[in-house]
Amino acid sequence: MSMRRRLVIGNWKMNGNRAENQQLLSDLVNLQKVGGAGADDGTKGADVELAVCAPFPYLPQVADALKGTGITWGAQDASEHAKGAYTGEVSVAMLAEFGCSWALVGHSERRAYHGETSDVVARKAAAVIQGGLTPVVCVGETQAEREAGDTLKIIDEQLAPVLALGADAVKNMVLAYEPVWAIGTGLTASPEQAQEVHAHIRKLLAAAGAPEQRVLYGGSVKAANATSLFAKEDIDGALVGGASLVATDFQGIADA
Ligand code: G3P
Repeated sequence: MSMRRRLVIGNWKMNGNRAENQQLLSDLVNLQKVGGAGADDGTKGADVELAVCAPFPYLPQVADALKGTGITWGAQDASEHAKGAYTGEVSVAMLAEFGCSWALVGHSERRAYHGETSDVVARKAAAVIQGGLTPVVCVGETQAEREAGDTLKIIDEQLAPVLALGADAVKNMVLAYEPVWAIGTGLTASPEQAQEVHAHIRKLLAAAGAPEQRVLYGGSVKAANATSLFAKEDIDGALVGGASLVATDFQGIADA
C-alpha cells in the first residue's frame, strides 16, 4: 500500500447560490461529525482528505463554514498573473486571502471553452505554487482521441510543459486524470482504463523526480463506482463534479 493519502475534491463548477451552499456545507460538516471520512478522531476515514472547489464569489462563505473542520477548500481556476490590468482574472494571492489550499488548473472545460493551452496551464500551475497553494492539474483525452488510440500521447502533450517546471514544482502538485468523454455524461472509465492512464502518469511523474504525487480520477464518479476505482494502485482519490453537490453522495465517495 502506498503512503499517499487519499484525497477527494468536489468541483462545484458554476453551481450553487448562497442558500444552497449553506445547506450543502452544513450537511458536509455534520456528516464529518458523525465520523465520516476525514474525521479527526483517528478512526473512520482519517486517511482521507476532503476538499471543495467553489465559484470565486462564494469562497468567503465556504471559508466561514469550513474553517476548523478539517475540510479544505479552493478555487476552480487562478490567473497566471500576479496583479494588474487583467480584467476578470483572480490572482493566487486573492485566493490565499480567503484561505484557499487548492486551485484547479487546466480543467477540460477551461481548455475547451476558454482556449487554455497546456502552456497556459503550466504557467498557472507555477503561479499557484508560487502563491503557496497546491494546483490540481487536470488532463484528459476526448472521445475521438481515445478512439484514435491517442490517449497516452495526449496525456504526454498536456503534461509536458507542466513537468518541465521541474521536480521542486511537481512535488507541490496534485494531478487529475479526467477523460473528457466521462465528464458529466454518466459514462465512467472502467477501473482498468483509468488505471492504465494513471500508471502512465505515475511513470511520467517518476521520470520528473516526483513519483509519489497524488493522481486523482474524475469523470462521473459516484459512491457506487468509487470503490472499484479506488482499489486500483495508482488511483489516489477523485475529483468529483455532479456528485459533490449532494452531501450524502460526496460523503459516500469519501467513505469508499
Ligand atoms: O472536475 C470534475 C469533473 O469534471 C467531473 O464531473 O460531473 O462527471 O463528476 P462529473
